[in-house]
Amino acid sequence: MGLWGGRFAEPSDDDLRALNDSIGFDKRMYREDIAGSMAYAGAIADAGIITAEEAETIIGGLEAVRREFDEGSFVLQVGDEDIHTAVERRLTDLVGPVGGKLHTGRSRNDQVATDFRLWTLAALEQVDGLIEALQVALVEQAAVHLKTVMPGYTHLQPGQPITAAHWLMSFFWMLKRDRERLDGTRERTAVLPLGSGALSGTPYDINRQKLVEELNLNSYSQNSLDGVSDRDFVAETLFMLALMSTHLSRLAEDIIIYSNPLFGYITLNDRYSTGSSLMPQKRNADPMELARGKTGRLIGYLAGFLSTLKGLPSTYNKDLQEDKEALFGAVDTVQVILPVITAIIKTLQVNPDKMRAALDEELLATELADYLVRKGLPFRQAHHVVGEVVRHADTHQIKMSQISLEQMQVFSGLFEADVTDVFDFDVAVARRRAPGGTAPDAVAEQIAAARQWLESRSA
Ligand code: ARG
Repeated sequence: MGLWGGRFAEPSDDDLRALNDSIGFDKRMYREDIAGSMAYAGAIADAGIITAEEAETIIGGLEAVRREFDEGSFVLQVGDEDIHTAVERRLTDLVGPVGGKLHTGRSRNDQVATDFRLWTLAALEQVDGLIEALQVALVEQAAVHLKTVMPGYTHLQPGQPITAAHWLMSFFWMLKRDRERLDGTRERTAVLPLGSGALSGTPYDINRQKLVEELNLNSYSQNSLDGVSDRDFVAETLFMLALMSTHLSRLAEDIIIYSNPLFGYITLNDRYSTGSSLMPQKRNADPMELARGKTGRLIGYLAGFLSTLKGLPSTYNKDLQEDKEALFGAVDTVQVILPVITAIIKTLQVNPDKMRAALDEELLATELADYLVRKGLPFRQAHHVVGEVVRHADTHQIKMSQISLEQMQVFSGLFEADVTDVFDFDVAVARRRAPGGTAPDAVAEQIAAARQWLESRSA
């Protein structure tokens, strides 16, 4: 006896089943499906629909089904359309007709929405832990390089000197926002749809609040029509993951560039570098390219799923079954990327000498303008004067510090002998000590704030 076979004179066509069945991918929600059903068996017993003994029989049967899945001995049968169908079919094999009472007042519509929320919550928890590990790696690596000076870029053109710690920490804050978004998503995911029935609610006296508590959720849905079709939690999770991955792709890009021999600022550990089958000298950053590349896939999952949701008529539509492969794919993808990036950051060899060698005096042009500002020149004029100094050095193929004081004074009478003090990268960096700046003191405070945030969040 199939799930809805009574209505039809003929069994389903094979091709229909190939399209319709979701068991191939939704079987990974078996734990959540069984947990939801166990709680529901209690709820219908409380409502007087089944006896306490029947509930016990059902729960015992569900435990046996779970064991079969855990051990890999569960045998799928034709007609096991999805995980909900498969579990109920096997339950009934094991405990007899009483298994058929479990679905009273419930629909696969409120069931699948419940299962998938439970699955998503567990996945968010895991992803959160993986992001945290990367944050810790960034903080630890940054703490070692508070005074390691490197060129900072805008437009990928040399801008001003910064510290390697400051560069690494910039990614910490992106990931902090990702985890805060994850928290918000988690909050809105922890809502119970069960009790919504197929669309209009349930005629039975189901204690939904008790179900909320048993399933570790925060609240129940207030409108059954919305309850069965709300997939905001999927879209939000996909967005949260796509944006996080976008952040990772930027870190990846920096690492790819900085590990290029022309820069040489960092060297990836051998265990996380890849070679070439043809060019023996190659040391490639494939994992970072994959992190960058897979971001496209993650953005695709989000765009694809929003397109699925757009314009759906009220309540459940089978289109919603598309939610699973999108989210499974997105979660699987970040679960393979994150640990490798974390390991790469942990084992990253930072090359302070290479960074220092790349420091060109032009990075101090802003300092020179600030020097004039301190002598009383409005910044706009100072900017112009220093522009002329830079051009002079450029045309004469010399460094700014090699220009004679007399020549400097042609550009501005405000230049004095102390101008030579400007040409010091460490001093320039140390000057940016207002909170959020690149000075070692400021970055030390930044790192302390980051550590405090990590602690408060894991508390
Ligand atoms: N496999 C379905 C899904 O993932 C379960 C819900 C089916 N409901 C229905 N009315 N056909 O969405």
